[in-house]
Amino acid sequence: MFMSVIQKRRSIRRYQKRALPPDQVNQLVEAALRAPSSMGTNPWEFIVVTDPKVLGQLSRAKPHGATFLKDAPLGIVVCANPEKSQVWIEDCAIAAIFIHLAAQAQGLGSCWIQIRERMHDETRSAEAYVAEILGIPDPVKVEAIVAAGYPEEEKPPHPRETLPYEKVYEGTYGAPFRPWA
Ligand SMILES: Cc1cc2nc3c(=O)[nH]c(=O)nc-3n(C[C@H](O)[C@H](O)[C@H](O)COP(=O)(O)O)c2cc1C
Repeated sequence: MFMSVIQKRRSIRRYQKRALPPDQVNQLVEAALRAPSSMGTNPWEFIVVTDPKVLGQLSRAKPHGATFLKDAPLGIVVCANPEKSQVWIEDCAIAAIFIHLAAQAQGLGSCWIQIRERMHDETRSAEAYVAEILGIPDPVKVEAIVAAGYPEEEKPPHPRETLPYEKVYEGTYGAPFRPWA
């Protein structure tokens, strides 16, 4: 079951114009809260956004790669307090991927939108822009937004032959790993 979710997983950026029932949103949130974190510190925090006006504002967080959020019924903003963990970035990334995979498992489409280290414009970070819209206080940092909704596009799974097995070594660096040898 889980491998099938992984095998079919794609980033989906076009969504049907219908709201997600609360149960589906709840499952995505539960998935995030079940993510592992270093030493169990759970430094992350999440903001569930369904207001189309706010999603529209967030879709302008950066010039590229976020526009589709304006047409999504849901965005989950993944942030964390760096004072709670030195490895909050890893913890946030894992939680975001849990949301992404839980969406796939529920027949939803979703896509990661990178916010950390991205610029809104020449003078302002995407993070500062998002923080102002959502009232995120210092020192909380924004890692990403995961957009989700019923898929309006279909993407084929990546064929196994295209997986970059040449990046996998066996025993020592550079020694080829032969998955089916
Ligand atoms: C760390 C990270 C940041 C990403 N940032 C964005 C983004 O800002 N906008 C976007 O549309 N997709 C983003 N993506 C999705 C990737 O573009 C996508 O995973 C990649 O193109 C492979 O496509 P697939 O997920 O369908 O296999 C991001 C993915 C990751 C893991």
